Formats: sequence, structure tokens, C-alpha cells
Amino acid sequence: MSPHLNLTAPYAPLVRRIEAEGSVDGQILRIDHFLNHRIEPAFIFELAHELAKRLSFFQPNLILTAEASGIAPALIVAQTLNVPMVYAKKYSRQVEAPALSRLIHSPTKGDDNRLVISGRYIKPGQRIVIVDDFLANGRTAAALIDMAREAGGQVLGAGFVVEKCFKHGRQFIESLGVPVSTLAQVEHLDNGRAILTQPEEE
Ligand code: G4P
Repeated sequence: MSPHLNLTAPYAPLVRRIEAEGSVDGQILRIDHFLNHRIEPAFIFELAHELAKRLSFFQPNLILTAEASGIAPALIVAQTLNVPMVYAKKYSRQVEAPALSRLIHSPTKGDDNRLVISGRYIKPGQRIVIVDDFLANGRTAAALIDMAREAGGQVLGAGFVVEKCFKHGRQFIESLGVPVSTLAQVEHLDNGRAILTQPEEE
């Protein structure tokens, strides 16, 4: 990997907004009003362009994400890099055969979700990068990596808008041989506040 490639430099505009506007609910950081419920197109474009700049190093020809909140950033990364995007379906159990599928337990939501992808949309040897909004435990990303590999794809990297470092998803994903890029790193949630890794200079 290039010595100049910094996949995890904190992106100051995002760090500042999380600090100013994020709220904390148990183990959950709420930034739903601009990232994953209400979406501010201009800001999500800015974030996804920054992620795309970093992920372009891997020269992907497919972006892979999961319903629902991954779709917005993944679509913009894909458009920026001029490649298609595939999302794993959560709400539809039927896709065109051959179906790839994994069951994921979500401790955050306390239930199980099935992710399904049609194997028609991943070609052997395809250069794949995963994109999602949050990296917590890394189970969603690991399931996507596993399905992509089952279809014969090469997973070259994974990019997330926000990383919850204390959930150790990065270590899990990197142990699968996939480098991780994130724009904001939440070190811990303390007394209702998110403590983030600080950008070097602004
Ligand atoms: P993991 O996928 O990294 O293992 O994480 P985990 O099981 O803990 O998270 C499951 C879901 O909860 C994911 O959404 C993830 O984006 C979301 N999530 C995790 N931590 C936070 C948080 O601090 N704040 C917010 N807002 N969301 C969080 P998902 O199952 O993919 O659901 P969807 O929202 O995309 O439909």
C-alpha cells in the first residue's frame, strides 16, 4: 500500500458536526438528522466524495453495501468512481438465483437480519470495495465480504463514514485481509458525549 495513503485521517467537517450536533443514547450515537434517517444531500455528497478519494486507491469496479443506510453513501461513492453499486437486500428474501445469503445478529438492534445478494451481480475476479455508514462490530461488513468471496470476487477495501472504535470492528475486518478507511473515529461514548479522534490540522 502507498506510504502516502492515509485511510483513517479524521475528516474535520464531519468530526466537528458530530461533536456539535450528535447525541448519545446508550451505546448509540445519534446523527440521524444528517446521515441515516434525514439526509442532507450536500453534506453526504461531501462525505462520500472524501471516502471515494481514499477508496479510489483500490481501483474497484464494484461498490457493495447493505440496506438501508449504506445505500446513500455507497451510491455517491460509486457515482464518483464511475462504477456500479450493489446493495444486499434485507427486506426481500427472494432475489434472482443463485442467491448468496447470510444471517447477521445485531446486538445494537437485538435481532437477526438476513442479507441476500443475487450472485448474478458479482462476477469472479471482480474488484470490490465495501461501503457503509457505521462500522461497529463489523458483522455486516464481514457478511458482505464473505458473500462477495463466495461469488469469486476480490474484496480490496472497506470504507465507512463513522467508526465506533470501542466495538473493534476494524480489527475484525482487517483480520479478514481487508483494509479499512473511516472518516470519523468515535473512541468512546462518555457521559452522553462522543469523544472523537481529532484531526491533525484544520
Ligand atoms: P455491525 O454491523 O458493525 O456489526 O454493527 P451492529 O450489529 O452493532 O449494528 C447494526 C446496525 O446498527 C447497523 O445498521 C449499524 O449501522 C447501526 N449502528 C450501529 N451503531 C450505531 C450508532 O452508534 N448509531 C447509529 N445511528 N446506528 C448504529 P443496519 O443493521 O445496517 O441497519 P440500517 O439502519 O442500515 O437499516
